[in-house]
Amino acid sequence: MSFPVSVKRVVVSGARPTGALHLGNYFGAIKNWVEIQNLNTNDECYFFVADWHALTTDYESSGSIAENTRQMVLDWLACGLDPAKSVIFRQSRVPEHAELALLLSMITPLGWLERNPTYKEQLRELSTREIQTHGFLGYPVLQSADILLYHGTHVPVGGDQLAHLELTREIARRFNHFYPKAALPEPQPLLTQAPKVLGPDNRKMSKSYGNSIAIGEPMDTLRTKVMSMYTDPKKVKATDRGDPHGCVVFSHHKLFSAHWKVREGQCSEGTIGCVACKKDLIEQMTPLVNSIRAKKEEYLAKGERWIDAILEDGEKKAKVKAEATMLAVRQAMGL
Ligand code: TRP
Ligand code: SF4
Repeated sequence: MSFPVSVKRVVVSGARPTGALHLGNYFGAIKNWVEIQNLNTNDECYFFVADWHALTTDYESSGSIAENTRQMVLDWLACGLDPAKSVIFRQSRVPEHAELALLLSMITPLGWLERNPTYKEQLRELSTREIQTHGFLGYPVLQSADILLYHGTHVPVGGDQLAHLELTREIARRFNHFYPKAALPEPQPLLTQAPKVLGPDNRKMSKSYGNSIAIGEPMDTLRTKVMSMYTDPKKVKATDRGDPHGCVVFSHHKLFSAHWKVREGQCSEGTIGCVACKKDLIEQMTPLVNSIRAKKEEYLAKGERWIDAILEDGEKKAKVKAEATMLAVRQAMGL
């Protein structure tokens, strides 16, 4: 008898190099990656820095990619991503990603890419940049190569990436139809069930909005940021009844405080004031933020070479699988 749990999953996910992580990145992705890595030791896990993807929108100002990569990977490690359990690497150092992307581009109809909702949305949102480029249109082809190169079966992503993943499945299907000898599995999403993390100003937490709280935020700025968080404007006095569901402080209690239900009740009944509620939140956030900052400082002290060596080691491991896939793909395609 066979149990589905014994089937080996290949988990693949990547992130563009955005520099140090904020709480939105943590709850939206990295926390999930670390849990997956630790949950089932049978899984093969690949987590990479999508530095080529960064170029699709930022080719004019690419000078910070290397430093942003280091900062981000430092945070990954500080959050518990473990090079002994996961293959951690840079996309650009495993050129097979580009080779497979080129080959997949041969079979990908333009219409599939032009219909991509993310493409259309980004064209509108980033209207000040010239991104009517081949590379930007081909973003999902490169992303497909990232996954299919490792025969990825599961891809932890947020909801914003579902359209890309569906394209990956379609590209895999079309590839398998033409070249069954090198069949590539159709990956499925592992949807991150994280709520949208809000910044103190009640907008989505985002580096570009300048409203982020770093995952290793120093205590003094953490205090200022929490004390400045948007709360229910109708709750003025401690005894006023409030609506926790329109309050940024409460949304963070739900992420950090085991007793969030108590605060929810107290807020609605008017038995707690916002200042006390915020001070409690700071206390609840402190252990995680402090432990991640301490780890990050410890790793920073080891120097740049230490982090580069971890990535180079990951790149060696990634290459073994990537090269095996490409041998089969080249052969199946008649090259
Ligand atoms: N497009 C993803 C994002 O913006 C990053 C990414 C690139 C990715 N390649 C991937 C995610 C492969 C999962 C799998 O978040
Ligand atoms: Fe928000 Fe807490 Fe104030 Fe309620 S008491 S509005 S949850 S800060």
